[in-house]
Amino acid sequence: MANDASAVFDTLSPAVSKGSLADPFTPPADSALWRKNFLLGAATASYQIEGAVDEDGRLPSIWDTFSAKPGKVLAGDTGAVACDHYHRWEADIEMLASLGLEGYRLSIAWPRVMDAAGVPNRKGLDFYKRLLNRLKEKGITTFVTLYHWDLPQHLEDRGGWLNRDTAYRFADYADLMSRELAGTVDAWATLNEPWCSAYLGYGNGHHAPGLANDRFATQAMHHLLLAHGLAVPVLRVNDPASQKGIVANIGRGTPNSDSAADQRAAHLFEVQHNAWILDPLLKGAYPQDLFELWPGTEPLVLDGDMETISAPLDFLGINYYFRTNVASDGAHGFRDVPLEGVERTQMGWEVYPDGLRDLLTGFKKTYHNLPPIYITENGMASDDQVTDGHVDDTQRISFLKRHLAAVDQAIKAGVDIRGYFLWSLMDNFEWAFGYERRFGVVHVDYSTQKRTVKRSAELVAKFLKERKARA
Ligand code: FCB
Repeated sequence: MANDASAVFDTLSPAVSKGSLADPFTPPADSALWRKNFLLGAATASYQIEGAVDEDGRLPSIWDTFSAKPGKVLAGDTGAVACDHYHRWEADIEMLASLGLEGYRLSIAWPRVMDAAGVPNRKGLDFYKRLLNRLKEKGITTFVTLYHWDLPQHLEDRGGWLNRDTAYRFADYADLMSRELAGTVDAWATLNEPWCSAYLGYGNGHHAPGLANDRFATQAMHHLLLAHGLAVPVLRVNDPASQKGIVANIGRGTPNSDSAADQRAAHLFEVQHNAWILDPLLKGAYPQDLFELWPGTEPLVLDGDMETISAPLDFLGINYYFRTNVASDGAHGFRDVPLEGVERTQMGWEVYPDGLRDLLTGFKKTYHNLPPIYITENGMASDDQVTDGHVDDTQRISFLKRHLAAVDQAIKAGVDIRGYFLWSLMDNFEWAFGYERRFGVVHVDYSTQKRTVKRSAELVAKFLKERKARA
């Protein structure tokens, strides 16, 4: 294996490892990234990498059901095998550790660890115990997401996130996991990107379970946030030493013109993408402008819910990918107006690092109680090919460098940002886009499951090694 991860330092392009080429990744000397307590890691999610969907008592999730339906996922791909991480986890952790990555953000598959009656599934639990114990042995900081979209299908059959009861079932699940895994988790995130679960899952139907109704989206969001709020105190009791938080994706919307209507459209875009989640969490109320965008969609909120949802957090996870240029749709809302001549990724997403900086500094002004932040996902997809055992992912290297510079600028502007996780450790099942879109810093050949470290990962490893040597 010429380019396997354990040999990463030997396989650096000679010019780069000798430092004779301008390093396209290493941050400038004054960057906050050099601080050794700035955590640099990588992220994955259960359904995207594990495979083994019907092994050891795992029950079906909404993504098994959804991806099996024709036309829902590009090329008919499913997560049935994915990166086969359920069987290859030991080698994958070796790879993570050999790259010098200091943090690993993973998620637990709820349908793997408990059945419909709430009875724990020992085999599923043992998988995560082994994994987390090994990560701790390696000295890797562990961020565990409880819900990265793979809802047990039996709960969806009873209404999923439209049913308030799902929030209470989630608290039971959080209780089990934090009792079982306490001591191996440094930080718990309740949910990954409730915007995607609520809006893509129940609002436009692009994701599982595939329903499309704005009123459903706002109600699903309320129950997701309630689930978060119910789980946090449970996690605090069972695992007091760990940090508790939630992960939100954020979107930058910029106006297509100076007109008041377009400015308003950009504002509404950010309300829909950001304030819809952050206001209830940090201000205890939904933004009223959301219901200007979607009239008549106010969710049913019971007494005490907003207090439950807005209990203090130890950290806020932020996922950022791109910006959207918008104009007024002539009625209540906005429409996308894609800019021409801008740099885009394999997803068609615009590369726009300033959006990350501007959103973070904006949040600091808007939310006086903004918790410490971890960038829990940032990265890009490219059509990476292995040539002579190497993957030269030039665009990703530049993307990462520029986004880390944006993070540094936000830190210098006073935002408390404590770490950054690359999305993703390895190529994986990219939801509705299947395996075609490659987000990894490690390439996966799905026909052989061979992992090949991409040049971006080599350069991150080189930086981390240098940073460690200086400490
Ligand atoms: C985020 C998801 C993550 C991955 C990236 C590209 O929305 O949290 O699982 O698919 O996008």
